[in-house]
Amino acid sequence: MKHTIVLLPGDGIGVIVLNESVRVLKKAGFEADYIYGDIGWEFWKKEGNALPERTIKLLAQHKTALFGAITSKPKDDAVAELDTSLKDKGFTYSSPIVGMRQLFNLDICIRPCKSYKGNPLNFVRRGRTGAIEEPAVDVVIFRQNTECLYSGVEWSNPPDPVYQAFMTHPKFRQNFGNVPREDLAISSRIFTRKATERILMAAFEHAAKYGYKSVTVCEKPNVIRETSGLMLKLAKKIQKEKFPSIALWDTNIDAQMMWLTKNPEDYGVIVAGNMFGDIVSDGFAGLIGGLGFAASANLGEQVAVFEPTHGSAPKYAGYPIPIVNPIAMIEAACLMLDHLSETDKASRIRNAIKQVIAEGKVRTYDMMRFTGSPDVIDKGAASTVKMTDAIIEKL
Ligand code: NAI
Ligand code: MG
Repeated sequence: MKHTIVLLPGDGIGVIVLNESVRVLKKAGFEADYIYGDIGWEFWKKEGNALPERTIKLLAQHKTALFGAITSKPKDDAVAELDTSLKDKGFTYSSPIVGMRQLFNLDICIRPCKSYKGNPLNFVRRGRTGAIEEPAVDVVIFRQNTECLYSGVEWSNPPDPVYQAFMTHPKFRQNFGNVPREDLAISSRIFTRKATERILMAAFEHAAKYGYKSVTVCEKPNVIRETSGLMLKLAKKIQKEKFPSIALWDTNIDAQMMWLTKNPEDYGVIVAGNMFGDIVSDGFAGLIGGLGFAASANLGEQVAVFEPTHGSAPKYAGYPIPIVNPIAMIEAACLMLDHLSETDKASRIRNAIKQVIAEGKVRTYDMMRFTGSPDVIDKGAASTVKMTDAIIEKL
């Protein structure tokens, strides 16, 4: 079957790495029609909308997108850069990636963190005998992508009905009842049963499909009783009724961040709400090489968007020879292939990356621990294109 893929290059290095991932997909024999969609800063400046309606239509029609990265700026800076004809017309900037997640309810975020042998950025630790150990990390984080502290239900100086509702809670009255209202900032942590069940089911199904022995709920139910508590309660029910052969562990986010450098190899699938999922996935990504290696899938019931975790890194966008690591974006393309059941092509690409890293001859500047600058190429770092070429050669 021939697929149609919407390509959303976005800004800065997003444009560069997206093109590299398409080169790899083509070489791997992935048959697709590619359609470019407009997204990002350029469209904010020209049209007052970083996610134009025509792009939303493309996504709704074709369902699958590869996304580079966008540039976001604070509200006032954004307005200052608007085209003069659009100024003072009431345009306000909002992030197109957050927009896509909300519009298409991309509520399941998958962030795999698997170390490649030979990656000089891999986490190492001192073992019991004093020898240096390099544990093989293979963790997949399932992050709820639409709720929790990211739902945008928040107030500074809350209006009457909100304030009065909070005052009905004894703990609020006791601890904050004397605080002047204009000194209050409130952000709400909202979990729903449906979305929580969906992220948990996705996590367990992934563990079952790929042979992970445990699913760890990483929250804080002893303190955040209602929301974290709901997730843990539902996880226990789902495990008991549907996945009895997969172990259910639960960790607190704070302890998990400590343990992830102690025994990262012990974890398999980890599932968390939006905020803690964001934190724990960056934590694990750091163990496997950081932003040059971390990718994610954003899955809704209809639409799926695949992206590297990194942003547009504007300072590296204008280099005559691009230096950034394309692997995160290529990993995002592999997640897309998994999603489209093109798993053989995904594993061929991952194998090619594995070989290039194991050989250690071609390394981008981040893998050599250089500070990014145009002269890293002269110092022996591979360019973006050279890294992609090396992967393609292995294919
Ligand atoms: P960033 O991820 O763009 O870059 C941070 C640093 O990480 C870079 O300076 C570079 O040293 C390194 N880096 C990033 N990608 C790399 C790669 N592929 N290979 C090697 N090194 C890499 O984050 P930053 O600088 O905080 O944000 C820049 C812009 O990107 C902002 O406007 C921000 O809002 C946006 N952003 C967009 C995201 C998205 O599109 N999903 C995610 C994060 C930031
Ligand atoms: Mg993050």
